[in-house]
Amino acid sequence: MSALPTAFSIRDVRIFPNVVLAPMEGVTDLGFRRLIRSIGGAGLTCTEFVPSSSLAGVKDEGRAFEMAAFDPDERPVSIQIYGRDPDIMAEAARVVQGLGATICDINMGCPSKKVCKNSGGSALMRDLDLATAIVAKVRKAITIPLTVKMRSGFDGEDRNGAELAWRCQEEGAEAITIHWRTRADLYGGQRQVDVIAAAKARLKVPLIGNGDVIDPASAEAMMRETGCDGVMVGRGAMRNPWSLLQISQHLQGLPLTRPEPMEKRRVLLGFLESLRPGFKSERGALGRFKKVANHFTAGLPHGTELLRASVLRSQDIDEAVTHVDAYFALYARWADGDGSAFEAALAAA
Ligand SMILES: Cc1cc2nc3c(=O)[nH]c(=O)nc-3n(C[C@H](O)[C@H](O)[C@H](O)COP(=O)(O)O)c2cc1C
Repeated sequence: MSALPTAFSIRDVRIFPNVVLAPMEGVTDLGFRRLIRSIGGAGLTCTEFVPSSSLAGVKDEGRAFEMAAFDPDERPVSIQIYGRDPDIMAEAARVVQGLGATICDINMGCPSKKVCKNSGGSALMRDLDLATAIVAKVRKAITIPLTVKMRSGFDGEDRNGAELAWRCQEEGAEAITIHWRTRADLYGGQRQVDVIAAAKARLKVPLIGNGDVIDPASAEAMMRETGCDGVMVGRGAMRNPWSLLQISQHLQGLPLTRPEPMEKRRVLLGFLESLRPGFKSERGALGRFKKVANHFTAGLPHGTELLRASVLRSQDIDEAVTHVDAYFALYARWADGDGSAFEAALAAA
């Protein structure tokens, strides 16, 4: 079986490893990206989507500049913008370049009503002329590399991702990410990666495959079935923050890092601690922690039954830490060979 690629370049920006952390609103803020960078395996990280109107100074939507913030050593980093007005998107892209981002990414995949209502996000997949006009205007506004992220189509009838990807390339996009779902699939649907494969056959620029890539096997399947140059990992990074590292190790033929229970505990609690300064209230930090813990616990043995609910019910950070500690004490015993470590807790749950 042929070797899989381990790197690609967006113009002169080398993406190594070829594993990209997906933009996720309300998740991939600076704190979460620091967590993933500290573990390793991400060749590129991307901010949550940022409203172009805020960056361009047309409308004050609060946290835009906070959402666009990145660490000086977070390289390469992409700032993602969304919107529907080509001039405002171009102005926002200029701001992105001014902030020092390596790459500016345009969102054409967001299914949320708030974003689609204004014909931004995945609504652009129904208006290819507007979508390409945005790419053309943004291209002229900046000199840094420009990329586009989209779904495979708007719905099952209209799976035009390969066509849109090609048109974006012709207007100057320098890499494309395609999530195999259509907008209508939201986060469900039956896996179909044919549009990604079709786009790969048409594109000269690198293509990143996205959607349910969670581990080495799913990453390899995405690459072999579509020929894509790299993969993007979203929810899998919340469930298992080591997933990007493990995928990159697999692609390079290296042994996989398999963290011990106490290392997982350290990372989870370290993440919780890192959230405090970024939020005005403890409640805000706890809310963000719960969002990630909701997925992280599913990646732990009996984590859903024994840890998820208690963390989600926690009223303050100390209570959440107590539940995390209690769970990991059992997990460590179990990992040390005590096959009955979870029994009493499971009976009581
Ligand atoms: C909570 C959440 C927030 C998201 N926010 C964004 C976003 O801001 N921009 C974007 O392009 N996609 C966003 N997405 C989509 C992801 O980037 C990704 O395309 C999708 O989750 C599929 O990848 P996965 O199966 O690896 O999660 C979001 C997804 C989730 C679950």
